[in-house]
Amino acid sequence: MADVMRQHLAGEISLEDAVKGPERAITQSLGREHGFEPLRIEGTLPPALRGTLYRNGPGTVGLFGRHYTHVFEGDGAVSAVRFDGEGAQGAIRLVRSEGLVEEFQQKKMLYSFSVPWPMRFWRSMVQKKSKNTANTSVMCWQGRLFALMEAALPTELSPETLETLGERDFDGVIQHSFSAHPHTVPGRKAIYNFGMNYGKDSSIELFEFPFQGTPRHLGSVPLAFPVMLHDFIATEKHLVFFVAPARVKVLRALLSVGPFEKMFTWDPAQGTEIIVVPIDDPAHPIRFHVDPFYQWHFANGFELEGDRLAIDLVRYTDFRSFTGINEANYLGKKKTIEDWGQLGRIIVEPAQKKLHWEPFWDQICEFPRIHPDYEGKDYRYVWLESAPGGGVHDQIIKLDVETKQQEVFYFDEGEVVSEPIFVPREDAKSEDDGYVLSLIYHRASHTSYVAVFDGLDLLSGPLCKAWFDHHIPGTFHGNWMPAVSS
Ligand SMILES: [Fe+2]
Repeated sequence: MADVMRQHLAGEISLEDAVKGPERAITQSLGREHGFEPLRIEGTLPPALRGTLYRNGPGTVGLFGRHYTHVFEGDGAVSAVRFDGEGAQGAIRLVRSEGLVEEFQQKKMLYSFSVPWPMRFWRSMVQKKSKNTANTSVMCWQGRLFALMEAALPTELSPETLETLGERDFDGVIQHSFSAHPHTVPGRKAIYNFGMNYGKDSSIELFEFPFQGTPRHLGSVPLAFPVMLHDFIATEKHLVFFVAPARVKVLRALLSVGPFEKMFTWDPAQGTEIIVVPIDDPAHPIRFHVDPFYQWHFANGFELEGDRLAIDLVRYTDFRSFTGINEANYLGKKKTIEDWGQLGRIIVEPAQKKLHWEPFWDQICEFPRIHPDYEGKDYRYVWLESAPGGGVHDQIIKLDVETKQQEVFYFDEGEVVSEPIFVPREDAKSEDDGYVLSLIYHRASHTSYVAVFDGLDLLSGPLCKAWFDHHIPGTFHGNWMPAVSS
């Protein structure tokens, strides 16, 4: 790895030359990697905002002249924006997975569905190799930083330099994979997550990462067939899974038969399975089937009176959005509310084995986030991005889930928003008393900046913008690591 870094830093392997996108846009590959360097501040930076926003997304749309077949194939590019009360510094680096290092060394793409099938087959079946793109999210745990991709192990990075430290299985706790959607439950002082096992018998593997101490494997939930499962939600007492019938074609995957999109098939006759796992008794989940639906992301979940659960999510009628993401990203195709998701609440009644769905609103939206201290319990505000016209996501929304009142901030034409991250203010007086951070792509200058909003006054626009002097390719998810108070 060090050799490749030296080669890259010495200019022998140029990212700019090796990694090129099709056009000047947010979908263009990362052009420059760097450690922390000062960002230009526009506006007034809140002195109380101290910590680092880490974000992750596919930083490459291809390698060495070949284009990937799906946006999910790109290599993770982890960015960091650190606020210290007086200024902001920014850093970004590609995750140096073993696969990417090998590709840089051989100066050719080796792992995507874009490479010829015999080479893919050779790597998968003979060499037993695949690439951990680590391109979806980050987890901050016990001061450590991990880049996540749902089909692989976590990849540890240095929070100070973003240097890749390597894959981690935590002394064998994670045997197969670790989803990109760990959920913190402050009431239990732990982070929960799952990983998919696509072995002879498929299962969901459950994990607990306590705020202090070592991670543990909580249990296994066997599945009737292998599925794509992107996210789940944790309440203070339960881990809740909505397992949609997005079947994985395992043989196809093993044999590396492309394209990527055909590795999955929507099988509505199977319905969606609801699985409610008691955290303190994981061997005895409640399970039942309902009419099929799909989701990428949950906002929150919590216990209601009796044994009912409130689960807030962006709900899709089917799996069309899987190809829709690609068409929107690479081809600029507009989304419609019919093939996209709706934010709302599902009331789960485990005893009656029933669900009740209530949409909150009818706009195209995604990437819901909430105040981190309210995860797993009753709450008021969800923050998310929206694209009512079906094009790029260019709005940030604050939605009151009790009153359904919403505040919408419209970005300028040519700006693309990302998932808004809520950072509570110290000594906050209310749930929305804090900062809202979103990484924005600015097409006119082909650069990116982090917008910092006041959560109590979204409509007045950013308090400040921290500008990179280059663009950051589209990101999926991120997290905030507060500065350690001295
Ligand atoms: Fe996600």
